[in-house]
Amino acid sequence: MTPKLPLYFDYNATTPVDERVLEAMLPFFGEDFGNPSSRSHAFGWKAEAAVEVARQQVAELIGATPQEITWTAGATESNNLAIKGACEMYRDKGRHIITCSTEHRAVLDPCAALAKAGWQVTHLPVDEAGRVDPAKVEAAITDQTVLISIMAANNETGTLHPLAEIGRIAKQAGVLLHTDATQAAGKIPLAVESLGVALLSLSAHKLYGPKGVGCLYVRRRSPRVRLAKQMHGGSHERGLRSGTLNVPGIVGLGAAAEIAGNELTDDAERLVALRDRLDEGVRSQLPEVQLNGHPTERLCNTANLSFAYVEGEALMMKLSSLAVSSGSACMSASREPSHVLKAMGVPDALANAAIRFSLGRPTTVEEIDFAIGAIVQAVRELRAISPLYELAREGIDPTRLQ
Ligand SMILES: Cc1ncc(COP(=O)(O)O)c(C=O)c1O
Repeated sequence: MTPKLPLYFDYNATTPVDERVLEAMLPFFGEDFGNPSSRSHAFGWKAEAAVEVARQQVAELIGATPQEITWTAGATESNNLAIKGACEMYRDKGRHIITCSTEHRAVLDPCAALAKAGWQVTHLPVDEAGRVDPAKVEAAITDQTVLISIMAANNETGTLHPLAEIGRIAKQAGVLLHTDATQAAGKIPLAVESLGVALLSLSAHKLYGPKGVGCLYVRRRSPRVRLAKQMHGGSHERGLRSGTLNVPGIVGLGAAAEIAGNELTDDAERLVALRDRLDEGVRSQLPEVQLNGHPTERLCNTANLSFAYVEGEALMMKLSSLAVSSGSACMSASREPSHVLKAMGVPDALANAAIRFSLGRPTTVEEIDFAIGAIVQAVRELRAISPLYELAREGIDPTRLQ
């Protein structure tokens, strides 16, 4: 039976709100509408209590204490607060930060803003699987280094960085480590202490919670981390992030975090099997398909595949029954190949032929099998009209042609 089309394979872009999450949120749009800052009546107390339950739920997902969680409007804000807040607070130590060339724009752009303000920013390279070498992190640290920001998992390829090793190096050098865990949260176990991170960003809409809400973990002990606030106002969130709290959103993030913590192992096992079924199903029927990302150190739900001799955008158009994203999707209007694939040394032709398939909790075997069929057919059709593919089949390397 054909599943209902179009099929969604873009869970790294966003996820649907889990029904259980929605149910937890609904009362806070209606009868429990109070403002948690209203300390003088029961409406406020009820909202505040719900926000504190959520803080506990999120803290548990990452092995933190509730006091270490600050609510934000999502990972972009969390990353800005972490990076700009730490640099402003500790600027007397020096003016150097270290990050990685494959980070999301929500990290690269705050770093670029700091560079404009006179900071030195080191962008570490990655290997062909997209991983940063901890030895390179160590070598890049100077006595001026205030912060290292390395993501836990890459949004385009799913590649996981050796974060615990980087955490040990950062701790030994007395440098703060921030991680953008937006894609990792809910997909792999995260324990802030064993990872050695001082700051961690996550976002509700990537783990079956609502859009527009996230949080920043800020370590409180050994040693306590302080940040310069980036939002001035009513001193909410212990003065770190002003603004009336998004109570339904926060309750949703809390519920989503609890569910993710409970179901992470089962979800991951199921998703790895589906992801590999897709990957193997496609590659067993089509030659010249390259996996972009680490073969094993990778998110359970992500397969980024390049189909040689095929234009990614043309393939996406043909695959209109599948919601996927191309190698350049993050750059919206620009057709520039993805900066992530470029940093991994993927040639432009293959980077432009990349499609990211990201699976999620609702993905089924039937959906995967339908997708395999659709992909194989679309690629065969496009290659049939590709002069480059014809040349390659005749043994001529088209990349060497003038
Ligand atoms: C790795 C990573 N960081 C940050 C973000 C931005 O998150 P938000 O949409 O919550 O601002 C995303 C979302 O695309 C992401 O994948």
